[in-house]
Amino acid sequence: MGRRPPVSDLDDDAWTDEDEAGQRDSLTDVPGGVRLQKVLAAAGIGSRRHCEELIGAGRVEVDGEVVRRYGARVDPQHQVIRVDGRRIPAREDLVYVALNKPAGVLTTMSDSRGRPTMADLLGDITERLFHVGRLDYDTEGLMLLMNDGDLAHRLAHPRFGVPKTYLAEVSGPVPRDLGRELIGGIELEDGVVSADKFRVVERLGNRALVEITLHEGRKHVVKRMLAAAGHPVSRLVRTQVGPISLGSLRPGSTRPLSVKEVGDLYAAVGM
Ligand code: URA
Repeated sequence: MGRRPPVSDLDDDAWTDEDEAGQRDSLTDVPGGVRLQKVLAAAGIGSRRHCEELIGAGRVEVDGEVVRRYGARVDPQHQVIRVDGRRIPAREDLVYVALNKPAGVLTTMSDSRGRPTMADLLGDITERLFHVGRLDYDTEGLMLLMNDGDLAHRLAHPRFGVPKTYLAEVSGPVPRDLGRELIGGIELEDGVVSADKFRVVERLGNRALVEITLHEGRKHVVKRMLAAAGHPVSRLVRTQVGPISLGSLRPGSTRPLSVKEVGDLYAAVGM
């Protein structure tokens, strides 16, 4: 995993007084704070010079205020830093990971019965991570894990309605109007559920591969709604959570989320 170096590990040599000729702003330096361009560079925004250019161009905000002064000292632990209006993961202790969960793995971090859990797949990641929602034991695909509790909580909360996309292999043949039926709403024992989007990816004789997007987090919801519509699921893979795609991540593997992806997640839940 490519880990970011702690902010304090970055050398200060590139800093010159000449740089401080940048415009003033009213942001008060945080005593013992870290220079803004250093925080941006450590978060993976770009080289120190590129970050200085962003600051000079007025594209960086700290706690809602545009900061044009290169040497401003900020507190990345507590202040919200945005570039072009998008929040950046400025805290170097925060870890954001995508995992391709294989079938036969529990979406927990431990199991009293000794079954495989996600903890077995996290390799050298030692931070205590929260997982965003759950997948069934036999469901595969994208799980997001992070030690950013606020973000994880919002991503999982029904109020924010983060859409999730699944590929499902179902028994067929699938009628033309199945999408309309699923989007219109299917009655389940715990209430109606509707898909946001639906398409048939492939027809395979008496089976079909379908893609379904919904913003519900109810237990077994995809399997239950497709079964109720007459098309039981034989395989289910989650391919997308909000703005994050599974892509070509191999089953059982993890990858760190990029700065852009974390910014997209913040934006998806209004942070
Ligand atoms: N819906 C299901 O039926 N199972 C999952 O694992 C996720 C969504």
